[in-house]
Amino acid sequence: MNVCPTIVITGATSGIGQIATVELARQGAHIIFTARNENKAAATRAAIKAVAPGARIDVHYADFTSLDAVARVGAEIAANCEHIDVLINNAGLHAFEQRITMDGFSEMVAVNYLAPWLLTNILRNKLISSAPSRVITVASEASRRSGRLQARRDICSTSAFTRLGSSKLYGRTKLMNIMFSLELARQLQGTGVAVNCLDPGFNVTGLGRELGFAATLERVLKFLNIGNPQRGASIIVRLATDPAFGRESGGYFSVNDARRLSPVAPGDDLVAQQELWSVTSELLSGLWIGSLQVKA
Ligand SMILES: NC(=O)c1ccc[n+]([C@@H]2O[C@H](COP(=O)([O-])OP(=O)(O)OC[C@H]3O[C@@H](n4cnc5c(N)ncnc54)[C@H](OP(=O)(O)O)[C@@H]3O)[C@@H](O)[C@H]2O)c1
Repeated sequence: MNVCPTIVITGATSGIGQIATVELARQGAHIIFTARNENKAAATRAAIKAVAPGARIDVHYADFTSLDAVARVGAEIAANCEHIDVLINNAGLHAFEQRITMDGFSEMVAVNYLAPWLLTNILRNKLISSAPSRVITVASEASRRSGRLQARRDICSTSAFTRLGSSKLYGRTKLMNIMFSLELARQLQGTGVAVNCLDPGFNVTGLGRELGFAATLERVLKFLNIGNPQRGASIIVRLATDPAFGRESGGYFSVNDARRLSPVAPGDDLVAQQELWSVTSELLSGLWIGSLQVKA
């Protein structure tokens, strides 16, 4: 890893992503982050500058509900930076009702799964030419609530759900994150790109923002010292910087001492991982190949 690594991170404007970003900048990283809101990007920039006044920071704007925007931002980042040491796929949401994106996908599937898949694949050649490099994806043990997975049905489903039912769909997008990461690790074996994913544990962040009583709950949990997001951020930072995780690839790591986790079925099934990959690749091929041509 370079002394001043270049780290691309999504979802750096809130929660564990913002805390990890500030810490990585404090350790000397050149930060490239994506944001969808200028004021929130300015707040992250200010938080970085407060601890690392000389930090190099680049911001690229994209709302991940638009896959065109994700492809554009990926092409911009690839064109503007010579190398990438670490890509951290962190942006995500837990929606309590079904909302359909302009591309016709469920918002949670688009933002949590399709966006990082597309961004990573657009940056794939850059990551390979920058090796040794890393791809880290923030998954979740909520994946254990996802039920059976049918790749095409679950990527394309836009069925309505209730707040209670939302956990299953959220968990499924996190299971897809794990399967994506394990399959990518296999594809990139021997390239010098280490690919890992993680569970950050329970953190009080903006993830619960759609809960009516989120603000009150946040105050109570903070008072009880439950869900300190510093903890979730620390496992992101560790996977990004600890030399041990530059040598390991294809792991799913816990916030608890970075121990290895076994994904719930079918997360660890190679055939299911490959099927998920091939359906996703087929659905996104226009955007993915298009943006690689723009870059060339
Ligand atoms: N909190 C937990 O307990 C927990 C547990 C397991 C896994 N995770 C995972 O951790 C990651 C970070 O979540 P968090 O807990 O830190 O939540 P958070 O505070 O809500 O942060 C989510 C980040 O994702 C960004 N984001 C959401 N929707 C987006 C969109 N349409 N386009 C672009 N960016 C978007 C947000 O941007 P804005 O600032 O503009 O909203 C924010 O920067 C997520 O992948 C989540 O699934 C969290």
